[in-house]
Amino acid sequence: MCGIVGAVAQRNVVPILLQGLQRLEYRGYDSAGLVVVNNNRLERERSTGRVAELAAKSARSSGQLGIGHTRWATHGAPSERNAHPLISGGLVAVAHNGIIENYEVLRARLSAEGYEFASDTDTEVIAHLIHSHYARGNSLLAATRSALAELVGAYAIGVVAADNPAQLVCARRGSPLLLGVGDGERFIASDVSALLEVTRNVVYLEEGDVAEVNLRSHRIFDASGEAVERPVHVSTLSSDSMELGEYRHYMQKEIFEQPQALADTLEAVCYSQSLVPGIFGAEAAAAFSQIDSILILACGTSHHAGLVARYWLEEIAGLPCSVEIASEYRYRVSVPNPKTLVVTISQSGETADTLAALSHAKAMGHTHTLSICNVPESALVRLSRLRMLTRAGPEIGVASTKAFTTQLAALFLLTLVLAKQRGRLSAEEEQRHLHELRHLPSAAQAVLKLEGDIARLAENFAAKQHALFLGRGMHYPIALEGALKLKEISYIHAEAYPAGELKHGPLALVDKDMPVIAVAPNDALLEKLKSNLQEVRARGGELYVFADAGTRLHSSDGVHLMQMPEHAGYLSPILHTIPLQLLAYYVALQKGTDVDKPRNLAKSVTVE
Ligand code: G6P
Repeated sequence: MCGIVGAVAQRNVVPILLQGLQRLEYRGYDSAGLVVVNNNRLERERSTGRVAELAAKSARSSGQLGIGHTRWATHGAPSERNAHPLISGGLVAVAHNGIIENYEVLRARLSAEGYEFASDTDTEVIAHLIHSHYARGNSLLAATRSALAELVGAYAIGVVAADNPAQLVCARRGSPLLLGVGDGERFIASDVSALLEVTRNVVYLEEGDVAEVNLRSHRIFDASGEAVERPVHVSTLSSDSMELGEYRHYMQKEIFEQPQALADTLEAVCYSQSLVPGIFGAEAAAAFSQIDSILILACGTSHHAGLVARYWLEEIAGLPCSVEIASEYRYRVSVPNPKTLVVTISQSGETADTLAALSHAKAMGHTHTLSICNVPESALVRLSRLRMLTRAGPEIGVASTKAFTTQLAALFLLTLVLAKQRGRLSAEEEQRHLHELRHLPSAAQAVLKLEGDIARLAENFAAKQHALFLGRGMHYPIALEGALKLKEISYIHAEAYPAGELKHGPLALVDKDMPVIAVAPNDALLEKLKSNLQEVRARGGELYVFADAGTRLHSSDGVHLMQMPEHAGYLSPILHTIPLQLLAYYVALQKGTDVDKPRNLAKSVTVE
């Protein structure tokens, strides 16, 4: 994680750096810092507060070249001395996103050479290494390349030198970085949102690239050291989509954007009369005809989307499906099946574990790869042969909401396309599902009307220490997601169980202080779930039931019923997610936590 921004211009770059950092805060917010070059000196400001605090501290800073950083701490506490940029010998400053795995060896060697370490970070070795080469008369580019050759690990870096007032050097391997091409000015950033106010023309660096960035030109060298041209893309991201507007938090805004995000993601489908594999890429039909199973790899909320999809893929498409947490799969000895379609799911497309899991799958001989992702230019999309982009728009709140429901929509489409190709979907069924998908955005809109009721319900949770979420079948992963949302932003310990497992352990926890939240769709498992709820009531547990229309469940003593407007069949997990998102949001409001930037977390996890 961590965010990097840099600028070389003929104007003061401090406001540009600060604005960029503000946009990148979602990548980490343990501390923030910037360095500008002014009269052959490095001027640095750092703060353990948010970017706004750094802005106040840097009010007098000025320079036409600089780099900034917002940190998610890995090595070293989130203190000012560990905040980036890190400086070596008053000459070289570095901002880094990633982890240097061999930093201890390098630190020992550099210490023996006389370098003093002022921080506990892994990054400081990069600054000293570059300094050691630069001080010997190498160019900043050559010094950086020599230093990078000694590093093991992942990085995106921005480098400036005090005596080189119109040049930035940057590099990436394992963490994202792009160049911004302005008129007589150039920028670098971890993602395009940081540069929207200064340019829309961006060049995505590839793995292993190193670049020298001057006012009017840049030179890029690939991993083998060859000079390369990388295309300039014009970003279509709108800066309005990054603004909060009428909402109190990004999470609230993003929950309410779900009807539109679903409509946008399903756009290609909603206007067509039949489903075609082409929505996953030109080679999809050929690839889909060769597969006999699915392996889904993802982390966090995206993993939960995969867990729901397993129910769909096995039941509707008849394909065996396994779902693995990417960080486990990448280090596990598994048995590859070349006929498996490997599906990676990621909002950001930059999650280090998911990327590594995909590379691992490929190295094991898997050739059929598909990514479901919200960021078109991300590494994950580039590394996969097939893709479906969710069109949720930028998601800024750290707790994922609209990315999840749009991932589910994309995975349902994948299920239908595969079912059709395998002769398991009649024309009639296809039309029925298309009709349901077209209705989905308005069904989601109707669920959002529960906001006021859920806000009132949330008042009961603020004083609780624990919560238990129950679901069955394809709603069990929704219970998992509900519990994850609650713990992420309200810091209440929450667990989810398949309701049938209750009697095998968690029932021991149930008493009057343990709220039990049940997802109760009107499906084949409803009667069984009702029995499970009785088990909770009999132990004095307080029940909060999110039930579909027609379930004949009622509020009573100790049972708080929240009625969903309808039952959405296979799409029900998408609708049942929304009230749980709202519940987590309003409980967090009650508790006064930092909803969009919960403690210790970051949105884009580009380290292992
Ligand atoms: C982080 C975020 C989660 C997200 C997970 C996977 O932990 O805080 O919200 O679900 O990463 O991210 P991805 O971008 O791969 O979906």
